[in-house]
Amino acid sequence: MKQIKVKDKEFSLFIEKEEIQEAVKEVAREISEDLKDKNPLFLVVLNGAFIFAADLLRHVEVDCNVSFVKLSSYAGTQTTSIVREIIGLDEVVKGRTVVIIEDIVDTGITMDNMIRNLKHLEADDVQVATLLFKPEAFQKEFSIKYIGIEIPNDFIVGYGLDYDGYGRNHPDIYKIIE
Ligand code: IMP
Ligand code: MG
Repeated sequence: MKQIKVKDKEFSLFIEKEEIQEAVKEVAREISEDLKDKNPLFLVVLNGAFIFAADLLRHVEVDCNVSFVKLSSYAGTQTTSIVREIIGLDEVVKGRTVVIIEDIVDTGITMDNMIRNLKHLEADDVQVATLLFKPEAFQKEFSIKYIGIEIPNDFIVGYGLDYDGYGRNHPDIYKIIE
C-alpha cells in the first residue's frame, strides 16, 4: 500500500482520487437539482476546502456566486474549540441561500460557529456541503445536507487537507499510521 511521509508522520493511502471525484460529482448533482432557482451563494472555507470547491463548482449547474472566508481551528493534528476568522465575509448574505463548502466536518465546532454567524446576518437558508464527515467525532446538532464520504475518526491529509500546513497538494487522501 502506498505510503507518504508528511513532516514527522507516516500516512497510508486511504481514498483514491477516482473515488473522491465520484463523490464530488454526486454532491454537485444533488446541489444542482435542489438549488436550480435559488441563486445560491457558495462560501468556501479556506484553506482546506480550496481543492474540493474548485472541483465541485465545475460540476454545479446553477447560477451562483462564490466567495471565500478563512477560518482556523486546528493546531497540528488536534482541533481546538477556538475558531479564528482570518479573512472575513465580504458578501451580503441577507435573504440569500448560502451553501458553505467545507473540506471536512470533524467536531462540527467550526461549522456550528459559521452557521450561527450567517443566520445572525439573516441569511434565508444556510446549508453545508462537505466532502468528508467524521460522525464519531461530531458533537453538534446541525444537519449536514450534502456529504461526500463518511470516514472514521482518523487524522487524514491530502486533497486540500493538511498536517501542520503540509500535504494539501496530494490528489488522493491519506490516513495517519498511529
Ligand atoms: P471541526 O471544527 O472540529 O469540525 O474541524 C473542522 C476543521 O478542522 C476542518 O475544516 C479541517 O480544516 C480541520 N480538520 C478536521 N479533521 C481533519 C483531518 O483529519 N485532517 C486535516 N484537517 C482536519
Ligand atoms: Mg477546513
